[in-house]
Parts: sequence; structure tokens; C-alpha cells
Amino acid sequence: MNSGQTLSRFLRESTGQNTLAGTPLASVLEAFSGAAVRLSSQVSQGRQLLSTAATSYNASGEAQQALDLRANQLFISALKESGLCRTLASEESQELLTLNKDAPYLIAIDPLDGSTNAESNLPMGSIFSVYQAPAKEDISKMPFPAGKEQIAAGYFLYGPATMLVFTAGHGVHGFTLDRTTQEFHLSHPGLKIPHAGSFYSINEGYYSLFCQGTKRFIHYCQYPDYETGRPFSSRYSGALVADLHRILLDGGIFLYPASSKYPQGKLRLLYECQPLALIIEQAGGRATNGTMRILDLQAANQHQRTPLLTGSASLVTLAGKIIHPAL
Ligand code: AHG
Ligand code: MN
Ligand code: MN
Ligand code: MN
Repeated sequence: MNSGQTLSRFLRESTGQNTLAGTPLASVLEAFSGAAVRLSSQVSQGRQLLSTAATSYNASGEAQQALDLRANQLFISALKESGLCRTLASEESQELLTLNKDAPYLIAIDPLDGSTNAESNLPMGSIFSVYQAPAKEDISKMPFPAGKEQIAAGYFLYGPATMLVFTAGHGVHGFTLDRTTQEFHLSHPGLKIPHAGSFYSINEGYYSLFCQGTKRFIHYCQYPDYETGRPFSSRYSGALVADLHRILLDGGIFLYPASSKYPQGKLRLLYECQPLALIIEQAGGRATNGTMRILDLQAANQHQRTPLLTGSASLVTLAGKIIHPAL
């Protein structure tokens, strides 16, 4: 894979171990990236384009920003046009959507992640997950397969630059958008997460709502210890994709644990945690719910929540032991 290669060339010409090129899965990635380029230009136009007042509420009980709904429509139209999505599970759609009944893939999306950042012009993202649809005779309904059955997963990060980071099971690759040509270029071939790291990312505002084990782990991160590079630096943006992207590049740990406010955690298993878990594991890291591997879990319902600990393998393992010592 040569750096600088455009995404469209990467998805059309199979070179070396790039077995994705020319496959229907490559066409799904093309559909996603076309929608994300359009969304990226709308995101960069900021507030003057869209009122961000809540117009409705989604199945998770969250106010839907206008940009959430715009993003949802962009991805649904792109997937419909591709003809490759049989069933779509979206954060912004109450129920599963059947797009093309004989299509080969089940897809889950978080059309806009961190959408409460829209008003303050801070990073946001989009997340996608792709499964092979079952044989024709089975209609595709919940549950989707377990996370480890995903055949591809990725995210778009709308930051100072717009990036695509994805895996199709052969490593993790990052592409950066050239705004002049509107083409993504390979900028981070074969991403690997550092085995350890000195960043931890958690909403410490909820400290009083966490269990004793989570409080112990926060103290561990804050305790000075030269050997292990502590105290760690705290970084938390309110957008999962942005916080996880930093951990993927620099190492460390992201946690959205259970709390008295969110007893099952806040993040959704199907369209947030499982795609990101596949990326982190493909990059050599770990992703658990504190005790179980995220990719071994199977979402019983579309909007099921789960606690999430993910990042450098050694830190995720240690955090699980400190938070759940008895297990
Ligand atoms: P979304 O905008 O798709 O609903 O996701 C928001 C999520 C995630 O992006 C972020 O990590 C988390 O909510 C932040 O939650 P808190 O504000 O409770 O920290
Ligand atoms: Mn939301
Ligand atoms: Mn999200
Ligand atoms: Mn969202």
C-alpha cells in the first residue's frame, strides 16, 4: 500500500494483500465515503447552516440535532443507492430499516457521533459496521450476529482534517480528505496502537456516580509513578470517535463505564462499541465491557447499551482487574 494512494484507487485496484478491491464491500465503503464528504462540508459550515435545536428524540432518549437527522438521511440515501444494504440499524432510526431485501449486507451506523459538539464547533464523527447478511431465506432481524462476525468497520472523524479509519479484517488504515480534490488519500497505512500509553479518557464529572472500582482506576491513573509514566494526562472531548482516535494513535485507555446514571453504560453496543472494538483489536489493542470482550457480545436489541473500556491492551486488562477485582 503506497502512502498517498487515493481511496478510490485502493478500493478498485487490488495490490498485495488488499483483497478488498473491486468487491461489493469496497462499493459500500465508496458509498459511505461519498456521504461523509458531503456531511463533512456541512459540518464545516457550522451553526449558520443548521439550527441545532432539538426537533425530536431518538430511541436512546437523546435530543436529535438537525445535523443528526441530516447525517442519517445522507447515509441512508447512499446505502439505498448502492443496493448493497439489506437491513440498516441506525442510532437515529427507532426500528431496523430494510433497504434492499436481497442485498448482501447488514449494516449498523452512528450517523453523527458527538453531535452535541455541533454548536461549539468541536470534533464529531460517524461510525459504521458491516456484517454478511444471512442466507436469503432468513429475513434479517435482530439480533445482528456477534461483533466478531463483522466483516468491516470504520469511522469518519470531522476534525481540523476529515479522516476515514477502517478495517476489513486485514489491519487498520487511515485516509485523510484532500478538500481541494474531495479525495481521501492513504495517510496512515497499517495503524497499530501503542502497547501502553499515558492518556486516559473518561467523563470525570460523573465521578460521584461511579462504583468504587472505577474510582480506584481513576486514582491509579492520577497516582505519580515514574515507572509507568503516571500521572496520565486526561483528555475528554465528548465525542467517542475523537477520543478513541487519539488513543489509537498515542496509546492509553478510553472508558465509558457503568454509573448510577447509566447502569448499563451510555454507549450503544451495535453501532458504537462493536465497530470501534474491531478497529482497536485489529490495531493490537483490547475492548471489553469490563469483564467480557466486546466482540464476543451479541446485541439483543438495536439500541442496547454497554460499558466500554478500550485502548492499549495492557491498560484495558489492568483496568478490568482494578474495576472488577472479584471476577
Ligand atoms: P452520539 O452523539 O452519537 O449520541 O454519541 C455521544 C456519545 C459519545 O460520542 C461520547 O463519548 C459520549 O456520548 C459523551 O457522553 P457524556 O456527555 O455523558 O460524557
Ligand atoms: Mn445521539
Ligand atoms: Mn455516538
Ligand atoms: Mn450519534
